[in-house]
Amino acid sequence: MTADLSTPSATLTLNVGLGERAYDIHVGPDALTAGLPGIQAACPRGQTLIVTDEHVAERHLERLQARLGEVGIRSTALILPPGETSKSWEMLQFLTEAFLDAGLERKDSVIALGGGVIGDLVGFAAAVAKRGLGFVQMPTTLLSQVDSSVGGKTGINTRQGKNLAGAFHQPRLVVADAGFLSTLPDRELKSGYAEIVKAALIGDADLFDRLEAHGASVTQPDILKTAIAAAIDFKARIVEADEYEAGKRALLNLGHTFGHAFEADAPKDVIRHGEAVAAGMGLAFEYSTRLGLCPAEDTARVRAHLRTVGLPDHPKTLAHTDWSAESLVARMQDDKKNSGGEITLILARGIGNAYIEPKADRADLTDFLTTELT
Ligand code: GLY
Repeated sequence: MTADLSTPSATLTLNVGLGERAYDIHVGPDALTAGLPGIQAACPRGQTLIVTDEHVAERHLERLQARLGEVGIRSTALILPPGETSKSWEMLQFLTEAFLDAGLERKDSVIALGGGVIGDLVGFAAAVAKRGLGFVQMPTTLLSQVDSSVGGKTGINTRQGKNLAGAFHQPRLVVADAGFLSTLPDRELKSGYAEIVKAALIGDADLFDRLEAHGASVTQPDILKTAIAAAIDFKARIVEADEYEAGKRALLNLGHTFGHAFEADAPKDVIRHGEAVAAGMGLAFEYSTRLGLCPAEDTARVRAHLRTVGLPDHPKTLAHTDWSAESLVARMQDDKKNSGGEITLILARGIGNAYIEPKADRADLTDFLTTELT
């Protein structure tokens, strides 16, 4: 994907090449129209169940049901309470049984209309019901369009932590319609933009150059939509190479080991996921520079771009600032991608050149965080 970010693009169709689990991703201003034939194919009996939340239903459900009706698909909607608390065992049971009560068969698909919470939960229930129904991801937030809707990670939270029960279950189709983003609050949009920067920092230095060249205007719709497609395409290639995260897919966790620790240590709902990831990426680059791996100039560019677009570039610029290095490192120790009791960190040798460090030095990390946070 090398599109010029300043050129408004039409709707694009990308593909995740996973053999019999391959699927298309329609992205752009009229992705829903482009996706209708794929939805028909995913719903061969002309019926579906749409699962969404109260906020999204208010804004987008009627239009979606009308468009489905135009192509002969009957739909019923299940409207859940919004928020992370819906990613629960209770809701998983409720949805799985609702899918069974509706008489859905394996060849049928349900539609997940919403952000990451809806996509993760519905995808998991679809994986469980009859050992695997189809599902269509229809992400309505920037974060879910560029990250969670692609790649088949589904799951719920348990009392031990976030996303600790789940399944890899690929959707049959992803419809990332730019129209859904027009109603997103600015803070939500910026939070999602952090995941676009992440894709560039992991492995696409040219994309970072192009994002950086647009400065603060990069989150304007025309520029953003090509950046969204570039980030989705980047993720699709990683998922193709490592569907089950045995290796390089872990790179997608850049900024997340620090970020999850910030989310876990901050009071509930004070910081957004993308903000925590942005601050985490700033720290991952700082730490890479401290280890002598990454030029200081690259780290300065990363942090400057995050600040330019109005994202935090460091935990001290998050909405919560009262951090303890020991507590953060303890949280990082609990991260689910760790192995053998070691902390796995995604670090960088420069912009567009991230790598997996499977054994971060805990004492050095604590020292680094103590220095950064005082
Ligand atoms: N969100 C990271 C992944 O899908 O692997």
